[in-house]
Amino acid sequence: MSQELQERFGIPGVVAFDDGLGGQTRIRVTTPLAEAEVYLLGAHVTRFKPAGAEEVLWLSGESQFAIGQAIRGGVPVCHPWFAAYASDASAPLHGYVRIMPWDVEGVTLEEDGTVTLAFWIKFHQPQNPDWPGEFELRHRVRVGSALTMELETLNCGPGPLMLTEALHTYFAVSDIRNVTVTGLAGCEYFDKVAGDRKKQSDEPIAFAGETDRAYFDTTTTCVIDDPGLDRRIHVAKRGSRSTVVWNPWTAKAASMPDFGDDEWPGMLCVETANCLDDAMCLPPGGTHRMTARISLEPVPEEFAAAPPLEVEADLRPVAAGAPAAAPPVLAAPDAGEAAEALDPDAAAFTARVFIEAPPPAVFEAWATAEGLCEWLVESAMFTAPGERVPRADGAARTGDSYQWRWQASGYVMDGTVLAAEWPERFGFTFAEAGSCEVTFTRHGAGTLVALRQAGLPSPATHLECRTGWTFFLTNLKSLLEGGLDLRETDPLRKGVVNR
Ligand code: BG6
Repeated sequence: MSQELQERFGIPGVVAFDDGLGGQTRIRVTTPLAEAEVYLLGAHVTRFKPAGAEEVLWLSGESQFAIGQAIRGGVPVCHPWFAAYASDASAPLHGYVRIMPWDVEGVTLEEDGTVTLAFWIKFHQPQNPDWPGEFELRHRVRVGSALTMELETLNCGPGPLMLTEALHTYFAVSDIRNVTVTGLAGCEYFDKVAGDRKKQSDEPIAFAGETDRAYFDTTTTCVIDDPGLDRRIHVAKRGSRSTVVWNPWTAKAASMPDFGDDEWPGMLCVETANCLDDAMCLPPGGTHRMTARISLEPVPEEFAAAPPLEVEADLRPVAAGAPAAAPPVLAAPDAGEAAEALDPDAAAFTARVFIEAPPPAVFEAWATAEGLCEWLVESAMFTAPGERVPRADGAARTGDSYQWRWQASGYVMDGTVLAAEWPERFGFTFAEAGSCEVTFTRHGAGTLVALRQAGLPSPATHLECRTGWTFFLTNLKSLLEGGLDLRETDPLRKGVVNR
């Protein structure tokens, strides 16, 4: 698994996939700006060390690294609920995405040296059908001189999604007893230790015992002042109205098997969250983004000055049952494209279909041998340039040659992959009939697939390809939305529309 990911997403000397603790897949980022580590288990950041600085995040020496258990330290992603799930005491604390492996959606290295790792978790039916389960989650982790984490929720279920969440960040501190936190003066909070509500004084928060507080209705940056390490950690955020501050102190630390009895003085959680009073309700099709930005330097104005409207729109709790936030209306084909559609002499045409599945799932159906066999061809292989043996993972890369065998005719087609840009674009030559470019654009909870074939040599080929693609795009939709392959396989029924 790590090796396949390395081949697909690794960047030599910068981004490396390997088997980390507990054999879990780990991504190590090393740039002149910082070092970081992230596990696929929970899309969990476990290390962040800006160049020339000490580790910013705390990780317990007793942590487990196993599917089904949360990593203790770093930045657990708590979602779709924070703390306990009110109506089910057996539900995992802080939701279930922190104990599940995520997919990698992409890795990019920007010119300024920032690396972005994008993770994605598909719709998973949770263990219990009563838990909120129909959502899609993206987590973008940007490693630069600051660590920025953006968690995006899309409600792809038919009903409203009640949501509480946290980027439960564990910071490394010299000694909790000498550290203070500013940024929450005057905020109301729920004191979980005392079991009551209070208002924060104007004094910086200092620590002298177990502290477990959820501050409400606050969007400001917190600063952890740590004279022992001679540093100030700035925790800025967007799309978050709660901040949770936690240190377990002695007794609670001793009660947790994955937390060393003597480790508590070295950590402090300042969590970017939406919880309790700030719970949200996302309408079907609605999205919400929550971002945490961690740095040793003060927060730059661009981040602090996030567009207020966007933040407000993001945050406003939505009443249950509110109408769906409709995606924008799709533009109709332009005049040129409409004319092509009616003209078999035209050398190009575009065919479109909307599919209720996210772009990565639709892309995989095109750019992997296994995916293609499910709806288009009988067999498929992709081979790297200069190689004789097809790619072992069956996934296409730009420049590969391909060989597809069509089911009905048995025709074997050889061609070249012109573009395999996951999860947005897939292009390929199409034998004597020019070339095809397929784009995958998110629209609401699904994907708009647009196939443009150009370089058609004759009206007969135009008609043949257009009718062929109209059927196959419909088949792809049928398969991804309902699991039904519409191709006719019985040799006794030749000449029907789906054969
Ligand atoms: C904090 C909560 O966010 O997380 C605490 O406020 C909780 O009450 C802590 O103890 C750790 O939770 P867990 O599930 O990771 O042990």
